[in-house]
Amino acid sequence: METAEPEQQPAAENRSQSLGGHVGFDSLPDQLVSKSVSQGFGFNILCVGETGIGKSTLMNTLFNTMFETEEATHHEPGVRLKSQSYGLKETNVDLKLTIINTVGFGDQVNKEESYKPVVDYIDTQFESYLQEELKIRRSLHDFHDTRIHACLYFIVPTGHCLKSLDLVTMKKLDSKVNIIPIVAKADTISKSELHKFKIKIMSELVSNGVQIYQFPTDDEAVAEINSTMNAHLPFAVVGSMEEAKVGNKMVKARQYPWGIVQVENENHCDFVKLREMLIRVNMEDLREQTHTRHYELYRRCKLEEMGFKDTDPDSKPFSLQETYEAKRNEFMSELQKKEEEMRQMFVARVKETEMDLKEKEKELHDQFDQLKKTHQEEKKRLEEKRRDLEEEMNAFNQRRMAAQTLQGHSFMATGQQPLKKDKDRKN
Ligand code: GTP
Ligand code: MG
Repeated sequence: METAEPEQQPAAENRSQSLGGHVGFDSLPDQLVSKSVSQGFGFNILCVGETGIGKSTLMNTLFNTMFETEEATHHEPGVRLKSQSYGLKETNVDLKLTIINTVGFGDQVNKEESYKPVVDYIDTQFESYLQEELKIRRSLHDFHDTRIHACLYFIVPTGHCLKSLDLVTMKKLDSKVNIIPIVAKADTISKSELHKFKIKIMSELVSNGVQIYQFPTDDEAVAEINSTMNAHLPFAVVGSMEEAKVGNKMVKARQYPWGIVQVENENHCDFVKLREMLIRVNMEDLREQTHTRHYELYRRCKLEEMGFKDTDPDSKPFSLQETYEAKRNEFMSELQKKEEEMRQMFVARVKETEMDLKEKEKELHDQFDQLKKTHQEEKKRLEEKRRDLEEEMNAFNQRRMAAQTLQGHSFMATGQQPLKKDKDRKN
């Protein structure tokens, strides 16, 4: 099929002009803001971490809301993902928050496949967005976007090093989602141990090539705070919805016999840093990175897998029609091949069955002939026996008659009654 060469368009000339007076397009950012606010926002957080590591408590503390208190058991046969959506409102901003938890993570003896359900879940969300995009009548505007914007990876505060489950899982996820590693229950590890643990985690992530989410430093307004925060990763957090009196204020805290851990005290843990980075500074960047980096990669790989190319070897522009036809032909020839294979298999099966039946028929014939032969032989034998018996009977009768005649003669000769003999015969 021939395609027309695209005509070269002359490059548009760019000249900067100064305005004669107020026009009004400086309200564009405000228009954008008001449109976004009226549409509302969506944010999806994936919490990956072992059962009981403090996922729900941290989510409740971050959003200052009691979402759910249901605990998972340690007896799940595998890992599954549980998603729950909530409608939140702060001032005039609506946020549809979806929290996805890994249930049963780290509870199986064999943890080799534990990352798979997580990867599959993320891919499924990308796939449904892609399917919507590929529709002729798309409604991306009101489509419930379930793609994961941030993955909080909860690390157990062992003080040693990362578990291989953590390394493998993070490695599998890093090209699909923005990973923010956090050391959970940071109040259970001493300050000096925590410091060493954080350094160890980062060096292990680097040496294993795990790409975690870096807070962006290209926007001047947040470059400084973001670069400072990048150096604090992984955040060591404490979660709690309980309150304790500190001074004359009630604060979120965990109380121990020896003292109080204040969740929002930066000397006690990095909770505030996490909230600042995740919600207050970089929520929009996390949403954007999900779309422009992770989803883009998924989409590219998927479309390439489906046979779409931007340019063919001769560098002609991409043609949807050609790709479709090529794919269709490939599919049809594959189908024909399969059909032919099935037909041949069917013929071979029929032949096999036919031969089987013929063999069985022959066996039956042979059996019948054998039976017939045996029957005839038996009949002949019986016939012979009957003849022998008849001859014997005739001989016997003749002998009997001869004996009677002889008896008659002797009776007449002696004049006696043949009493005894007659009696014997009767008996
Ligand atoms: P599942 O959903 O059942 O897997 O558990 P989870 O990961 O959601 O943990 P959850 O928030 O239910 O917390 C489990 C236990 O850990 C509770 O007793 C919490 O009070 C406690 N916990 C939560 N956060 C912290 C923390 O930062 N430090 C300490 N020491 N304990 C915590
Ligand atoms: Mg929970």
